[in-house]
Amino acid sequence: MGKCITVAVAGYGLRGKCYSQLVKKSGDRVKIVAVGEIDKEKLAEAKAEYDLADDMCFLSAEEMLEQPKLADIMFIATQDRQHVPQAVKAVERGYHVMVEKPISPDLHECLELQDKAHEYNRIVTVCHVLRYSAFYQKVKEVIESGDLGEVRNIQAVEDVGYFHQAHSFVRGNWRNSIETSPMILAKSCHDMDILQWLMNKTCTRISSYGSLSLFKEDKAPEGSSDRCLDGCKCKEACPYDAEKIYITNKFTGVRDNGGRWPCTALTLNPTEDTVYEALKTGPYGRCVYKCDNDVVDHQVVIMEFENGATADFNMTAFTRKPGRQIRVMGTMGELSGDVGTGIMNIYRFGKEAEIVDVSKLANCPLGHAGGDARLVESTISMLESNDLSKNLTSIDASVHSHVMALAAEHSRLNNGASVNLDEFIKNQRVLAEI
Ligand SMILES: NC(=O)c1ccc[n+]([C@@H]2O[C@H](COP(=O)([O-])OP(=O)(O)OC[C@H]3O[C@@H](n4cnc5c(N)ncnc54)[C@H](O)[C@@H]3O)[C@@H](O)[C@H]2O)c1
Repeated sequence: MGKCITVAVAGYGLRGKCYSQLVKKSGDRVKIVAVGEIDKEKLAEAKAEYDLADDMCFLSAEEMLEQPKLADIMFIATQDRQHVPQAVKAVERGYHVMVEKPISPDLHECLELQDKAHEYNRIVTVCHVLRYSAFYQKVKEVIESGDLGEVRNIQAVEDVGYFHQAHSFVRGNWRNSIETSPMILAKSCHDMDILQWLMNKTCTRISSYGSLSLFKEDKAPEGSSDRCLDGCKCKEACPYDAEKIYITNKFTGVRDNGGRWPCTALTLNPTEDTVYEALKTGPYGRCVYKCDNDVVDHQVVIMEFENGATADFNMTAFTRKPGRQIRVMGTMGELSGDVGTGIMNIYRFGKEAEIVDVSKLANCPLGHAGGDARLVESTISMLESNDLSKNLTSIDASVHSHVMALAAEHSRLNNGASVNLDEFIKNQRVLAEI
């Protein structure tokens, strides 16, 4: 057996923990050897879970990065605006890096990390997990088979889900674009990435519209209180009521969901008592009309690619659950599919439709969960073989998705004006030099 790959984890929150658990499942090939996390409780949990020595547990990523190199790779799973300063330091220290998306809401930072990766010849993998999922792998395979002819349009829809919007983008971590990122980057850099990857062409022009239409004070119903548990008179009719989402809803409430996400974002050990406690005092108990949020609840992006192909992407909060759907229209055929069900219809013009159930093809859960596992596996194998060409979501492959998302946001804030991406990048570089 080859050398055991060692991993240091910066940020042991939901994502850091998810990747660390996947590492643990990979057996002796790979080992978590150090963790940097500012929350003492989470750090203690990581210490016990991975049997870490005291001197390999750090009260911040920055403190961990002050040490000489401790592992082969650093997983960076802190918040959006922390990624690049930490990743740059890690690369300079000699680590390979797996960094959460978005790389950064600042394009210069994305480019800075890209330059560092080249300068130090380090692997920098971006956690664009959807590329690794069995569903999108299958879409890519069908396009590359040539069965659809030349792809002319792609239509993609992202259902955020009403409770996910309320949880993450109204009450939670990604509610405010200044603190983290605009929603089209935070949530949908994945989708921008998938679109450019499937097109296999560079996106050249973008327009976008969208707004925050519902979750704001002037939409608060008469009689609503600031916190859902403080005698709100609108509670019964309100689907966004925190008690419904976190306690009683069959899928998301702690009573029936086994203490899984989204309750894990409220407290380390979700039980009815701990979740109620978090709702009484914490951000997740706030009325959705009375939070400090500014990110959109619906946005549409239209795109043109270098070969004249076009795509449109529609992201909305107002769906019953999270999900994604796609249609690919080619000169010789059409593909449509739903990531949630895994069902894909492939129509080769003039022939019988082929229906594929992706969930039956792969020994891998559908959607994100499958993508997470395959990303970790692919990163470990890449380090084992030291073959950088296997990096499906390298920083080089990933930066343009961020250019697309940031250009879309620029367009949205400018009444949907068409943005030429070459000029957008040049202008951003000029601004950086001023
Ligand atoms: N790839 C994906 O599909 C996906 C999905 C969800 C979130 N994300 C991204 O992953 C990142 C983390 O999201 P999350 O849901 O795990 O959030 P989280 O808040 O659960 O985790 C972030 C963790 O970083 C810790 N932290 C903050 N500052 C730190 C520091 N200086 N040093 C060390 N630790 C520090 C926090 O205490 C927290 O535990 C975000 O950038 C988010 O956008 C990616």
